[in-house]
Amino acid sequence: MSAPTSPHPAPARPVRPDDANALAANVWPASAERDERGILTLAGIAADELVERFGTPLYVLDEDEVRAHARRTLAAFADATAAHGSRARIYYAGKAFLSTDVVRWVMDEGLAVDVCSGGELAVALAAGADPARLGYHGNNKSVRDLERAVQVGIGSIVLDSWIELERLAAVAQRLGREQSVLVRVNSGVHAETHDFLATAHEDQKFGFPLTDAAAVVARIRETPGLAFVGLHCHIGSQIFGTAGFEESASRLVAVHAALLEGGEVPVLNLGGGFGIAYTSADDPTPIEQLAAGIVDAVARECASRGIPVPDFAFEPGRSIVGQAGVTLYEVGTIKPVRVSDDLERLYVSVDGGMSDNARPALYGAQYSARVASRVSTAEPALSRVVGLHCESGDIVVDAEYLPADVAPGDLLAVPATGAYCAALSSNYNFVPRPPVVAVSQGRARVIVRGETIDDLLARDAGVGPSSTEENHMNERNDT
Ligand SMILES: Cc1ncc(COP(=O)(O)O)c(C=O)c1O
Repeated sequence: MSAPTSPHPAPARPVRPDDANALAANVWPASAERDERGILTLAGIAADELVERFGTPLYVLDEDEVRAHARRTLAAFADATAAHGSRARIYYAGKAFLSTDVVRWVMDEGLAVDVCSGGELAVALAAGADPARLGYHGNNKSVRDLERAVQVGIGSIVLDSWIELERLAAVAQRLGREQSVLVRVNSGVHAETHDFLATAHEDQKFGFPLTDAAAVVARIRETPGLAFVGLHCHIGSQIFGTAGFEESASRLVAVHAALLEGGEVPVLNLGGGFGIAYTSADDPTPIEQLAAGIVDAVARECASRGIPVPDFAFEPGRSIVGQAGVTLYEVGTIKPVRVSDDLERLYVSVDGGMSDNARPALYGAQYSARVASRVSTAEPALSRVVGLHCESGDIVVDAEYLPADVAPGDLLAVPATGAYCAALSSNYNFVPRPPVVAVSQGRARVIVRGETIDDLLARDAGVGPSSTEENHMNERNDT
């Protein structure tokens, strides 16, 4: 099937701005401003104060921005589904960034939470989450993790394979429970950042082929300990339009309708993947428009098949926390590099890099940046923000116009880093991971502690008192 072209192509190179100090409203948290000194403030706290208290690099997460996105998403889907007499449950996809505070914020705002490992489940439970409002994903859940999930009374488990179906059935039967399950299917529709591609065949690890869904659901329905709730599909991430969702939904509704002949199918879970702006040129579809587009498409498909519109579930991660995050770095070195006769680029090295933001190296992700510690009247200069790691691919911001007088000691802020930055962080080159600081209404507090070199050395078995074999057991295998 051919791929419709998106109306939102990603920019090849940023447009030279009139003002390299401006904070684009689509990228920064709503609370981002410059104070009378020209210093970036977040939730009323100046960047220099944050750095003085917590150091650099520093992940800053704007609590009110997270809550606002959670509320807006919930309202958008509540309105879209109410128009068809149905409802939507919104799971926050914890993989984007998880801490006990974030779990509390989003649950407080009425969202459920989706986890995809035993560790993420532990964080949600440590936050005091109602297990009935948790969903559990993953293509290789262990018996131990399934047992824990069933034991605590998790709301739903998304089945990903035949082996897992039998594994979970055995666990549920052993524990004398009935576990609600969804079946993850591949619709053959894939989102590719701003475009989507629809195929007939799949070559990836997640889910069941759509053609197997009837057999899988029949097996679930005859298996004690399992209760079938509905189909699940996630077509990808950073999706800007509704076309991919609509195509996928239409394929799913055909199967959903067939499944109704064998019993109830109360829910249709269409996953997450709603795009956000990483640069001022990005123009994602507003969530209200996305919600209405997706839900209306499903409703049309249901009407044409003469079946009721199901309740919906969605699992956005990035669109809830992405715009709420800003990473603060200190500039260390500057190097002008002549790229060609007519192109010079400033290489601006900061004190973090691919260990705190792996996305540019992993996906070629684009970001933007601003000098946070002052405004400058210098001409904008094409710049590349790079990290301190021993990789030439250690790029934080591939292309951005920064004031040409950017200098060592300046603070640099990279917006839209709330999703998949702290979550994907590493200790590459033995760099300790930064703290995450939540800001709200003039106050800042650490919600995830930063690491120290001693923390990293503590894992080195050759340092300190000699340890026993058991200390070396991977906790995941330790039953
Ligand atoms: C199954 C599933 N649901 C939800 C998400 C969240 O996606 P996003 O953060 O792009 O909304 C993902 C992301 O990988 C996913 O795999």
